[in-house]
Amino acid sequence: MSIAKCYNVDDFRKFAKKRLPSPIFHYIDGGADDEVTLKRNTDSFNKCDLIPNVLRDVSSIDTSTTVFGQKINMPLFLAPTAMHRLYHHDGERGSSKAAEKFGTFFSMSTMSTTSIEAIGNHTGGPKLFQLYIHKDKSLTDDLIERCKRAGFKAMCLTVDTIVAGNRERDRRTGFTTPPKLTLSSLLSFALHPSWSLNYFLHEKFKLANLAHTQKNGQSIETSIIDYINSQFDPRMNWKDAEYAVKKWNGPFAIKGVVSVEDAKKAIDIGATAIMISNHGGRQLDASLSPFDILPRIADAVGDKIEIILDGGIRRGTHVLKALALGAKACSFGKGYLYALSAAGQKGVEAVLKIMYDEIYRNMTLMGCRSIKEITKDKVLFR
Ligand code: LAC
Repeated sequence: MSIAKCYNVDDFRKFAKKRLPSPIFHYIDGGADDEVTLKRNTDSFNKCDLIPNVLRDVSSIDTSTTVFGQKINMPLFLAPTAMHRLYHHDGERGSSKAAEKFGTFFSMSTMSTTSIEAIGNHTGGPKLFQLYIHKDKSLTDDLIERCKRAGFKAMCLTVDTIVAGNRERDRRTGFTTPPKLTLSSLLSFALHPSWSLNYFLHEKFKLANLAHTQKNGQSIETSIIDYINSQFDPRMNWKDAEYAVKKWNGPFAIKGVVSVEDAKKAIDIGATAIMISNHGGRQLDASLSPFDILPRIADAVGDKIEIILDGGIRRGTHVLKALALGAKACSFGKGYLYALSAAGQKGVEAVLKIMYDEIYRNMTLMGCRSIKEITKDKVLFR
């Protein structure tokens, strides 16, 4: 396979499946329990259709929008996702550079394999940092201060991962971080030599933002799921979120909001944005899809807070439908991780180009010359 033969996100998914050892592919690809929510995130977009307008002179199309006080060239950006170094040795450096080239946000996870400082030095593009609240409260201040110094533009706090979701695929495949050397994993490495060579010959795997916090010789690198369940603070509440918002004192999103009630609370604590998200279907299965709840949230608070739709985006038309219903922008995770896994930075660039072209072409076909022309009356629910 080659990226030149990848025409859409699903082609990159197939490429990633070939290239990655199976535990790693399934970690990216999977969801919680029966994966009902994972599937619905994308299926929901098919509940409505687009209504194009014709004869409108679409010789010039402007796909840019503004989120987090930052103009971006396309209404789609890279959602925060963990451990890029596990998928390709280009890691977060590769993803962030690809986002920079397309003039859109790179979001960096607390659980990244490249440090805040390294990314700050590596890319001048717009950067969003994704925060988790740890039991060790000093980490909140530490991460926020480091992001300020490294030139990050915005921050989001993930609130849907109090405990790790039940990812049965990971249990079946024996997924660990870093990958353990067992008989079956050795076989898997041998069957995926290009991934294995890249992985073992480059910079050692580590959770780069947290490595310095290892206490009592305890390794935080044994399992991401154990790490979440032992280090994240289940007492996290709106006061902690408010503390982080104030401490950051800039564009700030609460990520993982899926109710009007919580969207209103996000406004009350001073957040400037919400990311409607269910963590890519990886946390609470049977949770509703972001696209299904978007109209209700947008009607209630769309004029008071920026709404970002995260979850299930695989096509440019998905982005357009979300914008029509009140989102300012969308983000996707799996969509670009498949591409990163397939071909590193070049893969992420290729998938962003595909998504950009789809958005541009679809806006042309819709008769929408700018994002603000993609309005509610452009969709019809069946
Ligand atoms: C996950 C976390 C780590 O979904 O974001 O795996």
